[in-house]
Amino acid sequence: MSPLRARANADVREPPLGVYIHWPFCTAICPYCDFNVHGAHKNTASQADWRRAYRAELTHAYGLIPGRKVETVFFGGGTPSLMPADLVAAILADIDALWGLAAQAEISLEANPVSAPRPHLQALRAAGVTRLSLGVQAFDDAALKALGRTHSAAEAQEAFLAAQDIFDTASFDLIYARPLSNPAQDFAAGLAAWQSELSAALALSPQHMSLYQLTIEPDTVFHSRAAQGRLAVPHEEMAATLYEVTQTLCHAAGLPAYEISNHAIAGHHCRHNRAIWHGGDYVGIGPGAHGRITIDGRKHASMAHKQPQLWLAACRENGHAWQSLTALSAQEAAEEAVMLGLRLTDGIGVAALAQRGVALDAQKLATLKQDGLLARRDDVVQATDKGRLLLDYIIGRLLV
Ligand SMILES: C[S@@+](CC[C@H](N)C(=O)[O-])C[C@H]1O[C@@H](n2cnc3c(N)ncnc32)[C@H](O)[C@@H]1O
Ligand code: SF4
Repeated sequence: MSPLRARANADVREPPLGVYIHWPFCTAICPYCDFNVHGAHKNTASQADWRRAYRAELTHAYGLIPGRKVETVFFGGGTPSLMPADLVAAILADIDALWGLAAQAEISLEANPVSAPRPHLQALRAAGVTRLSLGVQAFDDAALKALGRTHSAAEAQEAFLAAQDIFDTASFDLIYARPLSNPAQDFAAGLAAWQSELSAALALSPQHMSLYQLTIEPDTVFHSRAAQGRLAVPHEEMAATLYEVTQTLCHAAGLPAYEISNHAIAGHHCRHNRAIWHGGDYVGIGPGAHGRITIDGRKHASMAHKQPQLWLAACRENGHAWQSLTALSAQEAAEEAVMLGLRLTDGIGVAALAQRGVALDAQKLATLKQDGLLARRDDVVQATDKGRLLLDYIIGRLLV
């Protein structure tokens, strides 16, 4: 029997599953970004080629992890709003034919304002997308230019207003703690500018926002500029103040953080990411996609070829392009579970972690609590506001 027809016989008893689909192209590559991205002009494969390749890799994943219901799908990138809506619909149909898509499945897609005209957003909605996440980055034209973005603040706002009309949940991303245009400028002025920009953003009544502090990633244009002394970013203390102000404003506006960088009104958390941060399984499909799936009770990490042409060729010839599928060691699984869990304001359940074979040391927990980095309420351990900025340090102290 073809796996694409297997669902009717599937015995669905396992916990729900997420599917991540990577689309690796962008119209322009931003100077700060180190995701697996490639210029859209390099995409020479046809839509039919992409469709066949995604279907092959999905079918491969299904063979390893059948019998699960898919509750969430996340089209990430790159810029998946560059995908034809037909391709998105075809991928969702394949996922449904394999595992079955839950009736109330959350289907997220990341979009760039440049490739999000209203008719395309409507076509994506008709294809099944329920949640749009728009890369706005700044509501300030000078800041957008400095970030190498090719849209204006007004265009981003127009795309967001359309998304609010069309999708069950509309979210936008902003980047803050950006390069200082004048390093000698008064920090108070920069802080006031961010407060007013964020207040204007909140006035749009978003249901969800992802607010990221700029990270200078290796092998990016920003990294070489910084190394040459041509890019100044706020120092740690400034960044911590910006973070605190961000938390206060969002909380007051009814969008408290539910994760370090993610804010939402009640009922609009990203279910896909939430499940991952709680240690749930997700299948990673597409060039460079990572996945985490439980096979025979052990968490496995999968990773696919990053180069789109290599990925397509491997899917054509081998039925998938996973370069590796590796069982995580107990220590790796523990580090990952604690790291992901502490990102969430919900925190981690000590008993639930123990069931997954991760025992936390009571003495170390108590010391980190004394240091003001962790809080403990019955079974739940949470990072404090201070601790959430020092997760690597906490993991080092807790698990080594
Ligand atoms: C895949 S992109 C979102 C959609 C689309 N590609 C776009 O940029 O409009 C995911 C998000 O990651 C964030 N991001 C990427 N590189 C970053 C960096 N170096 N520091 C902080 N945030 C970053 C941006 O906010 C971006 O919107
Ligand atoms: S931020 Fe978005 S548009 Fe810019 S390069 Fe990264 S994925 Fe592409």
